Amino acid sequence: MQSAQTSFENLRKDFPILKRTVRENKTLVYLDNASTTQKPNQVIDAINDYYRNHNANIHRAVYALAEEATELYENSREKIANFINVKDKTEIIFVRGTTEAINLVAYAWGRDHIKEGDIIVTTEYEHHSNIVPWQLLTQEKGAKLEYIGMDDNGELTLDDLDKYLATGKVKLVTFSLMSNVLGTISDADTIISKCKAAGVLTLVDGAQAVPHMKVDIEKLGCDFFAFSGHKMLGPTGIGILWAKKSVLETMSPFHGGGDMIREVHKYETTWNDLPYKFEAGTPNIADVVGFGAAIDYLSNIGMTAIRQHEIELTSYAIEKLSQVKGLHIYGTKDISKRGGVISFNFADVHPHDVAQIIDEEGIAIRSGHHCAQVLMERLNVAATSRASFYIYNTREEIDKLINSLNKVARIFKL
Ligand SMILES: Cc1ncc(COP(=O)(O)O)c(C=O)c1O
Repeated sequence: MQSAQTSFENLRKDFPILKRTVRENKTLVYLDNASTTQKPNQVIDAINDYYRNHNANIHRAVYALAEEATELYENSREKIANFINVKDKTEIIFVRGTTEAINLVAYAWGRDHIKEGDIIVTTEYEHHSNIVPWQLLTQEKGAKLEYIGMDDNGELTLDDLDKYLATGKVKLVTFSLMSNVLGTISDADTIISKCKAAGVLTLVDGAQAVPHMKVDIEKLGCDFFAFSGHKMLGPTGIGILWAKKSVLETMSPFHGGGDMIREVHKYETTWNDLPYKFEAGTPNIADVVGFGAAIDYLSNIGMTAIRQHEIELTSYAIEKLSQVKGLHIYGTKDISKRGGVISFNFADVHPHDVAQIIDEEGIAIRSGHHCAQVLMERLNVAATSRASFYIYNTREEIDKLINSLNKVARIFKL
């Protein structure tokens, strides 16, 4: 593990895309990491090496290549289990990403366990992927979907949770550990302990948290946990659902097909052991291997150092952004309660115009509803601009962002 003094700037050499220029020969400044992160050579090379030297289907054949591919695939599962402190790696299920993980739970757990009149609780700052699957499920079952609200600081109002739990009808509470728009870090300990006391299961969306801070599943104490590889230097199309074995064992399969079965007869089938019961068909082997390389890369730096780097960058960015004329920052300014995601708006300027003007300088930020329209309604806006940071971002890049935002302010005479 490297120290907090790690020269994060040194890491930039590992990311070939950061050497690119865009538009009129402008150096790329990539500040859309909440959406997806760039990939280091180590991840690109691992995928390349897999296809060049080890490609075969897994779990199925006894020849050398198949054994190598299976070993690489299963090694990644072990690395990921260690990374989030899961003792039993059969609880780690490979899925396409956070979205698929949540849909898996809504389908394979929800259809057996949710009935008419039950309540599922989510929050006002969820990504659509932690809202829509629950709408589909509750509508199908005649159950209800309720929301924990949010105060003007962007923090969840947990009195709402108490109110819903008191009905005795709540079957599942789900929330993101870090908001993809406001960067708010949820008070997971309080939410989970309240749910445990009420005998209610919890699902944590870790898509924005796992890439940026140490997450310890055992300590967290939730029942389901979901995250995506591509937001933490890994490839797209691969992610994780973790759930307690005791819960996974009560669930029906999600997809039917090869590898998830023990025996198939004409009219009945028995299921394979965990985790394979939930990994039907040929999985995304190469990207699992790439994900393992991303885990190695992050582990070498250390998640504590990564969080510290982002605290420094985010504090600096909030201070500088606060000085830009006409600019409003959403969410808490208490850095201990937020990650490196900053949403903002200029008085009347549409976020798309902001993003377009600063794109001319080679700066990539996101504008839009960020797949969080319920939150946009709560904030009473159609869209925001969003800058989000990762390990390779620097203060100089934030200075460039500020300069081009000042240009926007001048153009629109703010
Ligand atoms: C908090 C949160 N949850 C879920 C998702 C969906 O992740 P994916 O598109 O990788 O499935 C995202 C993606 O932005 C997110 O930020």
